[in-house]
Amino acid sequence: MHYQNQKIRWLIKPALFVISLVPLAVLIQKGLNNDLGANPVETINRFTGDWVLRFLLVTLAVTPLRRLFGWNALLRYRRMLGLFAFFYVCLHFLSYAWLDQYFVLADIIKDVAKRPYITVGFACLLMLIPLAATSTNAMIRRLGARRWQALHRLVYLVGVGGIVHYLWLVKSDLREPLIYGAILAALLGFRLWHRARREPGAVAVAARQALP
Ligand code: HEM
Repeated sequence: MHYQNQKIRWLIKPALFVISLVPLAVLIQKGLNNDLGANPVETINRFTGDWVLRFLLVTLAVTPLRRLFGWNALLRYRRMLGLFAFFYVCLHFLSYAWLDQYFVLADIIKDVAKRPYITVGFACLLMLIPLAATSTNAMIRRLGARRWQALHRLVYLVGVGGIVHYLWLVKSDLREPLIYGAILAALLGFRLWHRARREPGAVAVAARQALP
């Protein structure tokens, strides 16, 4: 029985890896079937953008789920989920830089500076780079747990930035970005609540320290 459980445990990671590639496979299949709608560039861009946000939220859900239900095994998959958020943001940026801007660097720079939602999206991409680069065990050891953890708190800012980016780009129907925003607020709010319960006063002190 124990042996069986071990075997299942080893299967979960590769299975999750394959499942995480399904959105990409769906996109490729739609492309091959000429099923990307009237504006294929927009479809690809929106599709990949949605998956960046979904992977970010799933990654951010690991800690609350562990704390609420004791599902500590989830920790084994958090790094991979976070790296998939990075993978999809690379595709998202690539689709923008290639299909929307034809890889003209001057135009990309101008656009990043001019359109606020692109500025925010780009800042999020930049913030995710050091997180992906320090995701190996060797880098965790090199940085030390405390510094590594402090750096990886950037992911909260990326989450907020992702929502702001989405809210800023939609023109009328705010429902979807608001739903994602509510999920993010619950995931981040849980952390504050948990911290306040564990160390009474810590949140108030942190808030006071954050003031100028
Ligand atoms: C963490 C980083 C990012 C996240 C979470 C994110 C997320 C999203 C989401 C959710 C959408 C809307 C999808 C929909 O309408 O269903 C979107 C659209 C878009 N994003 Fe991003 N994005 C990020 C970074 C970037 C970057 C780096 C760029 C380019 C520099 C970018 C450019 C765009 C563009 C051009 C659109 C489409 C706008 C339109 O349809 O008019 N995003 N993104």
